[in-house]
Amino acid sequence: MTVRIALIGAGVMGRQHATYLERNPDTELVAISDPFNTSLAEELGVPTFADHRAMLEQVAVDGVIIANPNDLHVSTALDCLRAGRPVLLEKPVGTHVEEVRALVVAEAESGVPVLVGHHRRHNPITAKAKAIIDSGRLGRITTFTGLWQSQKDDAYFDVAWHRRQGAGILLINLVHDLDLMRYLCGEISAVQAITSTAARGHEVEDTAALLLQFSNGALGTLTGSDACAAPWSWEQSSSENPAFAQQPEQPCYLIAGTLGALSIPQLQVWTYGEQKGWHHPLQQSAEAKAEGTALGNQLAHFVQVIRGEARPVIDAADAMRTLALVEAARTAASEGRRVNLP
Ligand SMILES: NC(=O)c1ccc[n+]([C@@H]2O[C@H](COP(=O)([O-])OP(=O)(O)OC[C@H]3O[C@@H](n4cnc5c(N)ncnc54)[C@H](O)[C@@H]3O)[C@@H](O)[C@H]2O)c1
Repeated sequence: MTVRIALIGAGVMGRQHATYLERNPDTELVAISDPFNTSLAEELGVPTFADHRAMLEQVAVDGVIIANPNDLHVSTALDCLRAGRPVLLEKPVGTHVEEVRALVVAEAESGVPVLVGHHRRHNPITAKAKAIIDSGRLGRITTFTGLWQSQKDDAYFDVAWHRRQGAGILLINLVHDLDLMRYLCGEISAVQAITSTAARGHEVEDTAALLLQFSNGALGTLTGSDACAAPWSWEQSSSENPAFAQQPEQPCYLIAGTLGALSIPQLQVWTYGEQKGWHHPLQQSAEAKAEGTALGNQLAHFVQVIRGEARPVIDAADAMRTLALVEAARTAASEGRRVNLP
């Protein structure tokens, strides 16, 4: 039996989800809710609703994908849980930790699952990188260098909410990197940060530099900007989304340990031979990348979650911990101090 999915929010990301729903033989897109955009529903010939609550009452659906603006995520997901419908909720799970607590409680009490759209966790590159780190080949991880340096075109900022509180590179972009950093290397226990609005002059930051301490003792940096002509970002390096120009030879993460180092997404591993230390050359080997796409794998996982065959790879509580890192970075930047996380 195919699972019947409704989509809330038919913008850029909603269209992407619609494409993957069409490709997946186990899913059927049965309705779309978007008060300001009916074009996708008209193109696809599915019923369209201005209000998602009316849609949930009138259409029989097995699960819902939510891709509306960030500040509507929690309230919309709560409506879906009240209707007993499993949710694939786009990231970030909410705009601040306090509002997300209600969703965490509702998910636990209702038993209706929430899968949060940190899609990079489903990328085959991530699975390989995690296997390499967990195998111990790199030894004890000492440093994790993350880069998200790219240039959004000016038209992106014609959309008002992209310029305002509730957006900004921390919540829109670096939240993905922070999620992968903690997924790959373990929980982050302290954050220091500086942010800047100087390049674009918007209400929200266009550039940020973060210092991170992992619970296992590793130290990390994450520098990000959406206002620089540079090739170092997951989008450009990973070939994940053909909408972005590809620079697959450029790394976006460099992870180094006491026995070896790893570049991502190249999956190049650097280790010493018999003789160790900086007077001797490191040897290089590359892992083959597995087949599959992040959004395709994420949707296949959501189908399993709806059918009760799997628990969400990242649920509301887990995504709240990633969001707490964004909040910690904001506090660290505005108060000029180190923020410790429980
Ligand atoms: N996973 C990813 O890599 C990724 C990439 C881009 C965006 N996103 C996330 O997807 C979400 C949407 O981003 P986007 O770039 O598609 O934005 P967008 O502005 O293109 O689309 C948002 C859509 O939501 C609609 N909308 C507004 N109010 C609504 C409501 N009450 N009910 C239903 N729809 C409503 C808007 O009309 C618009 O069509 C955001 O949360 C964003 O963070 C995730």
